[in-house]
Amino acid sequence: MSDPRIRNPALRAKVTTAEAAAALIQPGDTIGMSGFTGAGYPKVVPAALAARIEQAHARGDPFRVRVWTGASTGPELDGVLARANGIEFRLPYNSDPIAREKINSGQMEYLDMHLSQVAPVAWQGFLGPLDVALIEVSAIREDGTLVPSSSIGNNKTWLERAERVILEVNRWQNAALEGMHDIYYGTALPPNRVPIPLIHAEDRIGETGFRCDPAKIVAIVETDAPDRNAPFDPPDAAAGAIAGHLLGFLQHEVKLGRLPASLLPLQSGVGNTANAVLAGLLAGPFEQLTAYTEVMQDGMLALLDAGKLKVASATAFSLSPDAAADLNSRMERFRDRIILRPQEISNHPELVRRLGCIAMNGMVEADIYGAVNSTHLMGSRIQNGIGGSGDFARNAFISIFMARSTAKRGAISTIVPQCSHVDHITQDVQVLVTEQGLADLRGLSPKQRATAIIANCAHPDFREALADYFARAQRDAYGQQTPVLLDEALSWHSRFIRTGSMRP
Ligand code: COA
Repeated sequence: MSDPRIRNPALRAKVTTAEAAAALIQPGDTIGMSGFTGAGYPKVVPAALAARIEQAHARGDPFRVRVWTGASTGPELDGVLARANGIEFRLPYNSDPIAREKINSGQMEYLDMHLSQVAPVAWQGFLGPLDVALIEVSAIREDGTLVPSSSIGNNKTWLERAERVILEVNRWQNAALEGMHDIYYGTALPPNRVPIPLIHAEDRIGETGFRCDPAKIVAIVETDAPDRNAPFDPPDAAAGAIAGHLLGFLQHEVKLGRLPASLLPLQSGVGNTANAVLAGLLAGPFEQLTAYTEVMQDGMLALLDAGKLKVASATAFSLSPDAAADLNSRMERFRDRIILRPQEISNHPELVRRLGCIAMNGMVEADIYGAVNSTHLMGSRIQNGIGGSGDFARNAFISIFMARSTAKRGAISTIVPQCSHVDHITQDVQVLVTEQGLADLRGLSPKQRATAIIANCAHPDFREALADYFARAQRDAYGQQTPVLLDEALSWHSRFIRTGSMRP
């Protein structure tokens, strides 16, 4: 049967089974896979590979691979391979619970990277050779170019760098995705870099498909399987309060003339709180918004649908199953207003700085001086990774971080004397928001920042203890620029590890 999704006859001859494709992957191979959040990752070859790995392990033969992706993927990729103990090394981002456990128990090496830097670093050669690219696409055109799927991530780079290519052509992905992508082929290494010609979030600067040398394609597998993202929680009171503080702040900035009425391109991070902020924007006064962001979640689709958002540029969809089905059924309506780009472009520091993005990201904790930890629980357990938060935070027009003021049912204060791990230094953090309030840290010295953060963001249950610590630090610290009591600064975390609570 001829499949209209594979329109190149020579490539149609390479269609095979997932098992046959997985058999082309050898122990020790490095595989560059597609996938960014639960979108566009290969759905069947990783499971066939995991089965091979399990069989090898049962025979006592070693078999592990190195896995590079765009960011997190789905259980059919990270989950199955981690469960099979098949991943020796993983980069650049993970949110799979099984893989997380393997990383935190020391069974898997994990390199957590700024997402904009993965492709350039791969080109610089620092990551080593790439044996296989395993990429989901939505179609193959007559001329052999590939129509991307629901995420772009690092696929362009994997297709160019890999020695051999395995494609999954997923019929579940809407054919109307064709034309939505913008693959920029102008990146180069120094000294040959040139300015990236993107001035507005809606600009298209590249091609609608991937180029791929057909001689490198060793197998094509047809699939018909949905992307998989967890549904978002409906916004609760705390998320609603965070959204409220943030919207009030943005309105204030517009009133003062520091932001245009349509704001600047929005970047919104991952997770429920970020999604709740987008839901808040739906009810807010802003019109003609734009987004230059990494992922497009439900809230952004709703903003597009309502006409509040003119255009959204991202590298991937990160939609709940309901929103993904909705988008799939109405793709034509959205197609011209959504642009998916390689992650080195969606997160590019040059572009984030030029466009003046408003970066809104989640955090694990912040300290009283406004350094932010996005990645590690109690200093040593990785939760997910830095993702694109660093790409955006350092280069944004306004860099905002948000979290609830407590975690683990009130046992943990997310505002602490000192972060147990730092991803974003104080210079990269301009606004902190919790459900308690918002601290605008721009133009403040470290001690002024501490006063604002403790007063506005800390939970009342921990505020007094933080104020007491800060007062003593101002009396006893070695220096008074950023007063810290070294022996005490991380004692809140060690108390939690010892007793299950940060409370004294
Ligand atoms: N100390 C210890 N544990 C904490 C904590 C803290 N200060 N804050 C949260 N946690 C725990 C929570 O209890 C939860 O654990 P559980 O699943 O066992 O209940 C877990 O960490 C996740 O917390 P949650 O509040 O559900 O997280 P979230 O969905 O709001 O996401 C981040 C917060 C920081 C994990 C998330 O934003 C992230 O991964 N950020 C980095 C990547 C990024 O910013 N990407 C966007 C760039 S485009």
